[in-house]
Amino acid sequence: MSSICIVGTGYVGLSVGACFADLGHSVTCLDIDQSKVESLRKGHIPIYEPGLTSLVQRNVAAGRLSFSSNYTTSVPNREFVFIAVDTPTGAAGEANLSAVESAAISLASSLTPETIIVTKSTVPIGTGDLITRLVHEHRTDSGQFPVVSNPEFQREGTAVQDFLHPDRVVIGSTDTIAANRLAELYRSFNCPVIVTDLRTAEMIKYASNAFLATRISFINEIAAICEALGADIETVSNGMGLDKRVGPGYLDAGIGWGGSCFPKDVRALEHMGSVHGAHPQLLRAVMEINRDARRAAVRKLRQALGDLRTRRIAIFGLSFKPNTDDVRDAPAIEIAHLLTGEGATVHAYDPVATEKAKLELGDSVEFFSSPMEAAIGADAVVLATEWNEFRDLDWAEVLNTMRGDVLVDGRNLHEPDRMTDLGYRYFSMGRTDTNGQVDGKPGNDHA
Ligand SMILES: NC(=O)c1ccc[n+]([C@@H]2O[C@H](COP(=O)([O-])OP(=O)(O)OC[C@H]3O[C@@H](n4cnc5c(N)ncnc54)[C@H](O)[C@@H]3O)[C@@H](O)[C@H]2O)c1
Repeated sequence: MSSICIVGTGYVGLSVGACFADLGHSVTCLDIDQSKVESLRKGHIPIYEPGLTSLVQRNVAAGRLSFSSNYTTSVPNREFVFIAVDTPTGAAGEANLSAVESAAISLASSLTPETIIVTKSTVPIGTGDLITRLVHEHRTDSGQFPVVSNPEFQREGTAVQDFLHPDRVVIGSTDTIAANRLAELYRSFNCPVIVTDLRTAEMIKYASNAFLATRISFINEIAAICEALGADIETVSNGMGLDKRVGPGYLDAGIGWGGSCFPKDVRALEHMGSVHGAHPQLLRAVMEINRDARRAAVRKLRQALGDLRTRRIAIFGLSFKPNTDDVRDAPAIEIAHLLTGEGATVHAYDPVATEKAKLELGDSVEFFSSPMEAAIGADAVVLATEWNEFRDLDWAEVLNTMRGDVLVDGRNLHEPDRMTDLGYRYFSMGRTDTNGQVDGKPGNDHA
């Protein structure tokens, strides 16, 4: 069994650390945020991630998992030090590497022989070389430490299962011994292990995320054309996805992608490509279509209600997707900003993300502890996150509670006929719902 330090105890660091501990390794999760470390030590898990609380508690109790904010006690004599700090968007769209650089500098002087540095964070191509240089510069001896890229592909909401049952493990290093030692850590995993060079491994992560975002933007572009011409995106998507060459994943039309990864990674890849002389115009279009998808929800509200200035709009769902409390770059947050910008009053409800959304939205919107309360007096509801709770809601009762009758279903969660029968003016994304305006001409009619 190995001895591991994970630097950065956020969504990735905590779940990766807890999973490695559950596999029997000895793990310390380190973070500069001392209040986070203190609260983890008290058994409080600062994020909502299904299955994580029990996993952490079980491994802390077994003595395999601990938390620290001290590099000098946590880094020495580890076989692996993983860097899992945040890499947010910088001012020009680039990945901001200040946390990675600071982590590399902080751990440098505490490294002991045989330790392998592993990058779990999503980092721009060439960052492995940067870490090697920083570590070298911040040591008094000439010790060399291999840096291996091992990008993480887990999704929030299913992080534990995704980590333990990945489709593949990617390991990037030209140091064969280091790559093999890291591969050994994943020996019990029943999946292909790709061993390649550092830069290629770093690129696999960006290319994967950019491709998934592209699929969603693609289907949203098709949805907009469906809407204009009276076709149904749900059936189109199903008809496409059944083709084995296409596959069904990431073909759900709606108000677009968000979260802590796709937006920043597509931007960073576009930036990297641009500054190095490539012309990543597809990535630019992918981002532009995503902006349009979010604005489409507001356009539909205007179409139904006219001027939004005196209107009261309830937003159901604030996290960027269900089963997480992460609201970073969530479509719902941008839609709330757009609506308040137009002078509307916004009521917001989310089953788990309210506290994090308050940090983003402050008192510009009113938060409620149930969808029914948020719906009181609303002219319209925007369904922004496909939480299961919103599938099973008593939508007749929601309508009774509202002042108006408009439902903008940003995730195509409901059947248009059912919602219309209940009495809603129902708008969804790329479907032939009752409010779609189709000009009746064939699509190739230029008249
Ligand atoms: N969130 C995901 O689902 C996901 C999935 C795959 C990859 N990633 C990538 O993993 C990385 C981490 O993402 P996240 O969502 O876990 O971020 P996060 O913001 O949730 O967590 C980052 C943590 O690192 C800590 N930190 C920052 N600087 C530090 C330092 N110098 N020393 C010690 N700790 C420090 C922060 O306090 C924070 O707790 C990013 O590069 C992200 O792109 C994220």
